[in-house]
Amino acid sequence: MRTVKTALIGAGFVGPHHIEAARRLGFVDVVAVAGSNQASAEAKAAKMSIPKAYGSYEALLDDPEIEVIHNCTPNDLHLPVTMAAIERGKHVIADKPLALNSADAKTMLDAAKAKGIVHAVTFNYRYNPLMQQARVMINRGDIGKTHWVHGCYIQDWLLYPNDYNWRLEKEGGESRCVADIGSHWCDLAGYITGSRIAEVLADYTTVYPTRQKPKGTREAFAQSSGNEEFDEYPVDTEDFASVLLRFENGMKGSFSVSQVSAGHKNGLEIEVDGNKAAVAWKQERPNELWIGKRNEPNGWMLKDPGLLDPSIAHYAALPGGHGEAWADAFRNLLRNVYSFISEGRSMEADADKIEFPTFADGHESNCVVEAITKSAKAGGVWTKIAR
Ligand SMILES: NC(=O)c1ccc[n+]([C@@H]2O[C@H](COP(=O)([O-])OP(=O)(O)OC[C@H]3O[C@@H](n4cnc5c(N)ncnc54)[C@H](O)[C@@H]3O)[C@@H](O)[C@H]2O)c1
Repeated sequence: MRTVKTALIGAGFVGPHHIEAARRLGFVDVVAVAGSNQASAEAKAAKMSIPKAYGSYEALLDDPEIEVIHNCTPNDLHLPVTMAAIERGKHVIADKPLALNSADAKTMLDAAKAKGIVHAVTFNYRYNPLMQQARVMINRGDIGKTHWVHGCYIQDWLLYPNDYNWRLEKEGGESRCVADIGSHWCDLAGYITGSRIAEVLADYTTVYPTRQKPKGTREAFAQSSGNEEFDEYPVDTEDFASVLLRFENGMKGSFSVSQVSAGHKNGLEIEVDGNKAAVAWKQERPNELWIGKRNEPNGWMLKDPGLLDPSIAHYAALPGGHGEAWADAFRNLLRNVYSFISEGRSMEADADKIEFPTFADGHESNCVVEAITKSAKAGGVWTKIAR
């Protein structure tokens, strides 16, 4: 595999995990990092043993050695950073949500296509081996005709009024909880069932209309020390939401998302019910796939390459009994993207070989989130996805 030179823009919570996953591939060389200023970039570069540190993303993008960038900045920077990278012909691996709204996502998709770069969005949950297995099983009819997909994605990191993060700010986007984690759930539901969402009906709740914004800085998911100085900050985005779904293939769905549910850390759960059987998976117990049956005992399929369908068994890197989880799914996704880049493939000519979510999936996700928010703001009315 040809070695690919890459760089990170935005080294907060998720950025270093992108780098760790890329490095595990063995043919990706992480050559630079950009931060919001030179001092922070240098500190992050030293911590991650990355040779070059840039105080601005523009300076990093002017470095001709760099072929690929990981855009791990806060959501309001996704558009300017990605557009600047595309302009310079860099391949882009963007974290979700691709954009603040569907119009910006379309701008990025069109620009990426016109320039011929490789573009990916990190909907990483797809690449858990048992989500791949569920997709194969649903596709080959093991659970029969699917009629309902349901679940949740619930967390507790914004439970208290002094929990704070840029996601709560106006620049974070019109939707918060749905855009941040509901986007993952909807992407996964569409991916494993093979059907797009057609219409939605949503109800949003903001538990805290004001939050205590610390005067200093605080990393994502970090708790308040309790004695920070703060300003009261008005918040109008949703702390939790419930959503009904109608899919294009006639299937129905429902899911809830929350950032204020005590005890739930990263509770993504999904179940697909068909007229023969059901499958269900919980990301916090990623090595177990539940198989629901009517006339015989229910089953658990454990993650084991010897038991997985041969077409997707390579997504399990370890033998059965050796747990694989979030970081491994991330590595699986990046392996697909970087192999494509290393082999010199083109998104247009090799469209049938794309095994990763693209800006088209990112745009689709923005359209779904937008319709969900529109439905909630209208008081809960069925709203078609406008694509
Ligand atoms: N795929 C996933 O599972 C997943 C998980 C977490 C976050 N995310 C996404 O990743 C993105 C980042 O989220 P996070 O939780 O890591 O946030 P974060 O606040 O921890 O990190 C963002 C980083 O970007 C830096 N930054 C800000 N302005 C910059 C600039 N102009 N140039 C360079 N760097 C700049 C910040 O200093 C910070 O270090 C978000 O879009 C989020 O939705 C995805």
